[in-house]
Amino acid sequence: MTEITILSPATVANVVCGFDILGFALDGPFDKMLIRKVSGKGVTIINKDDYNLPTEPAKNVIGGALLALLEAVPEDIGFVVESTKIIKPGSGIGSSAASAAGAVVGANHLLNDRFSKEELIRFAMCGEEVASGSKHADNIAPCIYGGVTLIRSSDPLDIISIPAPPLYVTILHPQIEVKTSDARGILKKQVSLKDAITQWGNVAGLIAGFMKNDYDLISRSLVDVIVEPIRSILIPGFEEVKKKSLEAGALGGGISGSGPSMFMLSKDEATAKAVEMAIIAVYKNIDIDFHTHVTTISNEGVRMI
Ligand code: HSE
Repeated sequence: MTEITILSPATVANVVCGFDILGFALDGPFDKMLIRKVSGKGVTIINKDDYNLPTEPAKNVIGGALLALLEAVPEDIGFVVESTKIIKPGSGIGSSAASAAGAVVGANHLLNDRFSKEELIRFAMCGEEVASGSKHADNIAPCIYGGVTLIRSSDPLDIISIPAPPLYVTILHPQIEVKTSDARGILKKQVSLKDAITQWGNVAGLIAGFMKNDYDLISRSLVDVIVEPIRSILIPGFEEVKKKSLEAGALGGGISGSGPSMFMLSKDEATAKAVEMAIIAVYKNIDIDFHTHVTTISNEGVRMI
C-alpha cells in the first residue's frame, strides 16, 4: 500500500477545568488528507484549500509532525500530502492537531502500523509546536484515540482514555481569530493554592462524572477558576452565551481550547439544539459573523476512508 486517504476530526481541548490535560474528539468537522509514500527522505505538502498555509515542511504542522516521524524511519522514504482543511485554522477546535495527528496516523498505516499511539502522539506534538510554539497534546490525544482523553503526564507521556456517557456538543465559532500563542501568553504563571484546590476538585469531579455516567456531577464540575477568567475577555458575549446556554438546559461548557470557539455539553440532541438557538439569539446582537453546529463526542479518532 503506498497511498491512503484519512479523515481527521476536530477536537475540544481543556474541557473547561482541564487546561492542557483533557480533551475529546468530535463527530465532525473533519480535515481530509491524501498521503502518499514515496522514495527519498522528505515531505511535500500540497494545499487543496484556500487557507494559504505554508508548504515549507519545517513551517507547516503536517511537515513538523512527519519530519519527526521520518527521523525514526531508517528507510530512504518520504511522504507527499494533499491536505484539504475543513477545520479553520485558529478556530479553537483543534485545527492544527487534526493536521498533525491525521498525517502521522496515515503515514503510520503506510508503514504497516509500526509505531504505537504514544509514539504517534510524540511525533504529532512536534507539529503542534510549529503552530503554537507549545507541545501540548490535549487536542492530539483525542484526535488519535477518539473519545475523552486525559494526559496524566506529557513527559513521560501517559495518556488515559476516559469512558463517558453519550454527550451532545453545541459549538459556537465566532469568526475572529485567537492565536493559541497569544491566548497562552496572557495567562498568569502562578496560581493561588485556593484556586488550585478548587480546580483539581473539579478535574477529579469531571473525570468521576464521565466514568460514573453522572450528568449532574459532570455539570457541577465544568468550572474553571484559573484560565477562563483571563481568556474569556477575548470572546465577545462569553458570559451571556454561557448564561443563556445553561438556561436552555446545557450541562455546562466554556472556551474550546484556546478559543475563540465555545462549546456546551448537553444530555440529548433536543437540548443541544435548544442551546444552539439560545446562542444564536445572543450572537445575533453581536456585530461578529459566527457559525454554530451540533455534534457529539465521538469514540473514533482519525479514520481511513
Ligand atoms: N490546551 C491548549 C490551550 C489547547 O488551551 O492553550 C490549545 O489548542
